[in-house]
Amino acid sequence: MNGRKGLRLAVLVSGGGTNLQAIIDHCEQETSGATVAVVISSRRDAYALERARRHGIAAEVRRRRDYPSEEAYSAALLECISRFQADLVVLAGFMSVLGQPVIAAYRHRIMNIHPALLPSFGGPGMYGEHVHQAVLDYGAKVSGCTVMFVDEGVDTGPVILQAAVPVQEDDTAASLAARVLVQEHRLYPEAISLYAQGRLAVEGRRVRILPEERGKSDD
Ligand code: GRF
Repeated sequence: MNGRKGLRLAVLVSGGGTNLQAIIDHCEQETSGATVAVVISSRRDAYALERARRHGIAAEVRRRRDYPSEEAYSAALLECISRFQADLVVLAGFMSVLGQPVIAAYRHRIMNIHPALLPSFGGPGMYGEHVHQAVLDYGAKVSGCTVMFVDEGVDTGPVILQAAVPVQEDDTAASLAARVLVQEHRLYPEAISLYAQGRLAVEGRRVRILPEERGKSDD
């Protein structure tokens, strides 16, 4: 992957979109090298859509229930992603399962964020407060978040970045979620920035972070 200018993102959402907001804020900095080309929501009432509109970003709704099959839904998502010429697909609280055709078409070009340190507390059913409750129920002392590339499994793709968040004695699922979310908002833009600089090299399960090229000319 070479360094690239003006990386175009398609951000897929279903909910409040606080990660989307962190990504938008990052992209609005001149040095980010990335721009949100389109926000695609699997729900009509996602507040993330409002965030997109406020920033003048194209916002589209693609609901699984409006399509007769998984294949038709994948085709609709692919059409939208390619129409906006997205280079990187960013899942930010997207609650629909991404179909195989989308994953295959954008291999190592789809990122997701999970609110725990994978491979712990991930996989089917591990979303939202379930994740943080499972961490507390297990008695884990450290949680955190993981940015990964998406593969065919649930939360199984190559890990890009992780951040640790200590569990506190008096934590509830909500208080732990809130502290993890702060780290998510820092980590996701960082991963996108590394990708935009061409500094992520996937070697099997490992994602190597290449050193910054200093003094590199763009011409
Ligand atoms: C985040 O906790 C993220 O880790 C998970 O879904 C949640 C989305 O939150 N994948 P928001 O919509 O970005 O606020």
